Amino acid sequence: MNAPTMPGLQINAPKYVKNAKLIAWVADMAALTQPKDIYWCDGSEEEYARLCQQLVDAGTFKKLNPAKRPNSFLACSDPSDVARVEDRTYICSEKKENAGPTNNWMAPAEMRATLQPLFSGCMQGRTMYVVPFSMGPLGSPIAHIGIELSDSPYVAVNMKTMTRMGQAVYDVLGVDGEFVPCVHTVGAPLQPGQADVKWPCNSTKYIVHYPETREIWSYGSGYGGNALLGKKCFALRIASNMGRDEGWLAEHMLILGVTNPEGKKYHVAAAFPSACGKTNFSMLVPPAGFEGWTVTTIGDDIAWIKPQADGTLRAINPEAGYFGVAPGTNMLTNPNCMKSLDKNVIFTNVALTDDGDVWWEGMEQDAPGKALPAHLIDWQGKDWTPQIAKETGAKAAHPNSRFTVAATNNPALDGAWDDPKGVKIDAFIFGGRRSTTVPLVTEARNWVEGVYMAATMGSETTAAATGQAGVVRRDPFAMLPFMGYNMSDYFQHWLNLGEKLAKSGAKLPAIYTTNWFRKGADGKFVWPGYGENMRVLKWMIDRIEGKADGSEHVFGVSPTYEELNWTGLDFSPAQFETVTSIDKAAWQKELALHAELFAQLAYHLPRELEETKAQIERRLAA
Ligand code: GTP
Ligand code: SPV
Ligand code: MN
Repeated sequence: MNAPTMPGLQINAPKYVKNAKLIAWVADMAALTQPKDIYWCDGSEEEYARLCQQLVDAGTFKKLNPAKRPNSFLACSDPSDVARVEDRTYICSEKKENAGPTNNWMAPAEMRATLQPLFSGCMQGRTMYVVPFSMGPLGSPIAHIGIELSDSPYVAVNMKTMTRMGQAVYDVLGVDGEFVPCVHTVGAPLQPGQADVKWPCNSTKYIVHYPETREIWSYGSGYGGNALLGKKCFALRIASNMGRDEGWLAEHMLILGVTNPEGKKYHVAAAFPSACGKTNFSMLVPPAGFEGWTVTTIGDDIAWIKPQADGTLRAINPEAGYFGVAPGTNMLTNPNCMKSLDKNVIFTNVALTDDGDVWWEGMEQDAPGKALPAHLIDWQGKDWTPQIAKETGAKAAHPNSRFTVAATNNPALDGAWDDPKGVKIDAFIFGGRRSTTVPLVTEARNWVEGVYMAATMGSETTAAATGQAGVVRRDPFAMLPFMGYNMSDYFQHWLNLGEKLAKSGAKLPAIYTTNWFRKGADGKFVWPGYGENMRVLKWMIDRIEGKADGSEHVFGVSPTYEELNWTGLDFSPAQFETVTSIDKAAWQKELALHAELFAQLAYHLPRELEETKAQIERRLAA
């Protein structure tokens, strides 16, 4: 089976790889990309340690002080390659309408012709890593297999943490199993004798999806969602297409379990846009006044949700690790996360302390009175001091700096986090980052109203994607950058699902919207957020249990001041008013933005959403 590709290059598939289609594809891709050799990852600890050492030797990784941060590394990227590139991300469906107006599109034949010369010889002088991975528990009926071919050892080691990666995938794949082929290159071929750089990448970037043939091709970036192809490319953009065809959902959602003092457990799936609080909410520590309540993490970024014969929805986290935002994380905001980062972590683009540990903005707020470090090496390798920061505004860590860590490091990990059956979803939350207008929490009165709220959600952009941060844009379902097909068809898919569940007679999950990010006149967040979000979560559970009436307004139901448990928090009715008030004029402007979105999405836009909008407008005018 070891077909020669170019003179001297053998595929050398290990004996345990028996899938003929896979072997033929690797041979084809090797012929196209011309790596110097091919390495088949087995996913072992020994291999991880070896590749990390290789990355240290190459200067990509710095080994952190083992006394401070055992078995952990810091990578600093090229300053031009620090986040997802939405303007370079394409959905190349046969028909333009199937990608829809929110995606970049090119005809598949045209894109293939564009990529051909770029991928031709793109791995010269580099090793091609064959990275076998399962999204979801290995061998489970809801899991799907991908194979990523990458010339980046950084990608290989990150994929080991982020997915179920390794030899066992081939047993599941067998001789004729299906896999999603994912080709990734940093787009920086090395000529003989040419020295490598710490973070190879290319100023030309293409993140390309072919939904019909379920393929992913990524060129020119080594960072995050551009390069770790199991995550956004597969588990959202390709999987949303699978879900549409097969009647399930692939969502940008955390999944948490919340158990009340009586021991009753609920599961909540929440969609917040990138860098808007999913990891934090999924690891929430209930504050004072919530004795007996616990929150456990099933997932922090992605949910695959499948309707069951009994009309319930069950969700799994297809990932096995967290690729989380570092800045803002500290012992007060997210102690579970900090504990997860004690050992076995890959950090990317955070700062290095003089004693070989890591630092990022927000760590100084760990404890009252804690000082800034006197000196750091920032993520770009430059000296950083509080004085330099004051004078130049330089950030020690990049705002989209991240950690890669196994889910099993999380002390709040839910016992069922890798249960192939998934967990039953009782509520959905959709939450944006809005300084104004959107109240703390609102419950939709029914499924259609909930879909409307999710579809019209706006959020301020963040550093998770390149481009300007802080600009309000519509981000339907927190899926704008991750939808693999037409957004309006996706809204319809959600409406159809609600109808199907309702027919089975089951109680549909409740739907809420939240906004933790309203600001006061001083420009500061009014709501304390983080663990204090438990107060809102409990109200949601109270609503599900019929223990809270709420107060009805133009677009849903929100809590009264008295309905939230305020034990342990000094938050006045006036402050509550600041985060919950509904300003008619602001909402009239907001509805104009909904209208703009609906005009953009007119093709296949479900009639129910137009009707819901008209109802809200009538109530606003009344
Ligand atoms: P992605 O990994 O990009 O999908 O992000 P995410 O949705 O998981 O966001 P994450 O939990 O990492 O939070 C992003 C940033 O928002 C961090 O800097 C957090 O400190 C901050 N943040 C999270 N939750 C809250 C909150 O309740 N209030 C405030 N003010 N900030 C928050
Ligand atoms: C996001 O941007 O939503 C992330 C980080 O979770 S990335 O993996 O880069 O997509
Ligand atoms: Mn995300």
